[in-house]
This record gives sequence, C-alpha cells and structure tokens, in this order.
Amino acid sequence: MPFHAKLLTLSAQSPDTVPIRRGAEVLRAGGLVAFPTETVYGLGADATNDKAVAAIFAAKGRPSFNPLIAHLSDVAELDALVIMDDRARALAQSFMPGALTLVLPRRPDTPVSWLVSAGLDSLAVRVPAHPVARTLIRETGRPIAAPSANPSGSISPTTPLHVMEGLADKVDLVLGAGRCAIGVESTILDLTGPKAKILRPGGVTHAQIESVIGAVEAPHHHTSTTPNAPGQLESHYAPHAQVRLHATSVEPDEALLAFGADCAIKGGAARLNLSEAGDLNEAAANLFAMLRQLDKESIKTIAVMPIPESGLGAAINDRLRRAAAPRS
Ligand code: TXA
Ligand code: MG
Repeated sequence: MPFHAKLLTLSAQSPDTVPIRRGAEVLRAGGLVAFPTETVYGLGADATNDKAVAAIFAAKGRPSFNPLIAHLSDVAELDALVIMDDRARALAQSFMPGALTLVLPRRPDTPVSWLVSAGLDSLAVRVPAHPVARTLIRETGRPIAAPSANPSGSISPTTPLHVMEGLADKVDLVLGAGRCAIGVESTILDLTGPKAKILRPGGVTHAQIESVIGAVEAPHHHTSTTPNAPGQLESHYAPHAQVRLHATSVEPDEALLAFGADCAIKGGAARLNLSEAGDLNEAAANLFAMLRQLDKESIKTIAVMPIPESGLGAAINDRLRRAAAPRS
C-alpha cells in the first residue's frame, strides 16, 4: 500500500540515519517530508525553494498570509537568517534547542523564500531539540520551513498516525518516531519591537522567558484575523465535535476531557483524563491525541474540565479556547 511506503519509522533516541538521509534527499529535491519535533510533527520543505514552500500551503490548504517557521539544526546558524539582538542571544542560550520560536527582522541577504515570511520583514526561527529533526535539517544543509503537519485549522499531530490520517496523500515521506514529548507547539515570541510580545503561548512558559529578559507582554485572549497576528486566528485546532470549556459536570451524550481527580463528575458517553495526577506537562503531551480520540466517538460535544493557567496550562488553555471558538 502506498500509505505505508511513505512512512519510515525510526527510534527517537538513536535515530537510524538511512531514513533521515532519504528525507534530506527528498527535501533537497523540493519535496515535502513530515518529521517529528519535540513539540508536534512538522510538514517540512526546503525554506530556500519557493516552489517547495508553496507546496506546503497547498498541502495544508492554509491561507497564504500565514507565515511559517524556519527550522535550523544549530543556534550558530541563526545569524545567517535574522538580525539577532541581546535579548535574542540570551534566549537562544537558555532555550535553544527547544520549544521557543523567535520572530526577528529578516536579514536582507537571507536565502529564505519570501513566502516563508509571507512578505513580512520578519522571520520566525526555531532550533528544534528532537534528534531526528536536527539530523534531518543538518543532512539537508538548508533551513527547513515547517508548519504543524495537519490540514489547516485541524488538530496538530503528535504521532505519525495523526500525520498519515490528515496528509498521507499530500506528503512525499513521513519520518515517524513515536509520540512528541511536549505535545503543544513552540512558544512564539515577537522581538521585532522594543517590547517583547508572546504571539502564541507554547512549550516554553511566559515566566521562563521573563526570567531571562524581564517583562514580556502576554498574549491577548481575543480572537482576531489580522495578518500581523497570524497566531490569533479563531477556530483553530478544531475537532469535529463542539468543545465546552470549564465543565464541572457532563451530560449523558457528551464526552468528558478530564484533568486531575474526576470522580466527582459522574456520567458522560466517554471520558479521558489529560493527567489524573494534575500534571500540566503530562496534560500537554496528551492534549491533541485525546481530543482526536474523543472526536472519533462521533459525539456532539466534548466537555473539558478547568485547567490551571500556570506553566504549560497557558498553552493548553490557548489551544482549547481556539478549539471552542465559533466556527465559520
Ligand atoms: O512547535 C512548533 O512551532 C511547530 C513545529 C513543527 O516546529 N510548528 C508550528 O508551525 O506550530 P505553525 O505554522 O503551525 O505555526 C507557526 C505560527 C503561526 O501562527 C504563524 O502565523 C506564526 O507562527 N508566525 C510565523 N512567522 C511569523 C512572523 N514573521 N510574524 C508573526 N508570526 C509568525
Ligand atoms: Mg499549526
């Protein structure tokens, strides 16, 4: 079956370089390769190849004003793409490789396609920590543009199966290496102005960033569709079912997505617990997979218990608010 021929499975810890080299060849030839990162799976293309980058937008059905993240294999490569300042250097030292994306002024001579930054003067850059991602980028020898490997607007993938379900017929190759350890996307921090701003909460927390560079503007909870705040699109990460937040009870025909002790909430047609121990890291790692699983029960509404805003809770609640946002 062509479905399986496209999926090469490898170990996350000591990845076999043969499938990764194959992935690098496909990328250098302008193809699309889905690959694991520690946050979510990415849909990669050579960031210096306009046509390859355009193929990402086509595969995802993504509105073309939404810019992409350029992924690098090493912090030392950042200077070739963007104009770093002291804040960026301090943050790179503390959190890269890792789940932090910095939006910085594009270098005028960067080889990255204008399509990656959607015509903006800024460029989002990230150095993923996952060994498969880093080896793939290094073997390709070019920055890799990669959004999450899901059709636009749907739930981000945290397993190879999720990628295959959404994009099997649209990618050339999928490198599979099990579940993503963090499970929510990177934090996007805008450093183009004097005031640092979080555009999307994610794997590195607001408090962690402030501990390095001082005061940082938190993301607004509003939902708008302005192109300079592209992370703020409403109705993102949407399952098919409706999502009801802050649930303290569940109707017989609803599914419950629980957090912490859930024995006081009786009933429901199905239930999964993000973390019985109330651990926000575990909850982040389970979030997208559990939303998908409950969505398969063809239930009309997923009721979600309250989740604290601390730590990764900010990123979890951001994704849940988008999942619950009115759909057009
Ligand atoms: O964890 C992640 O960040 C994953 C993995 C694959 O690295 N990637 C990811 O990419 O989530 P994507 O395309 O789904 O989300 C990237 C976000 C988008 O909301 C986009 O609008 C924003 O980053 N972004 C990218 N470039 C930007 C720029 N120049 N200015 C403002 N926002 C930007
Ligand atoms: Mg995405």
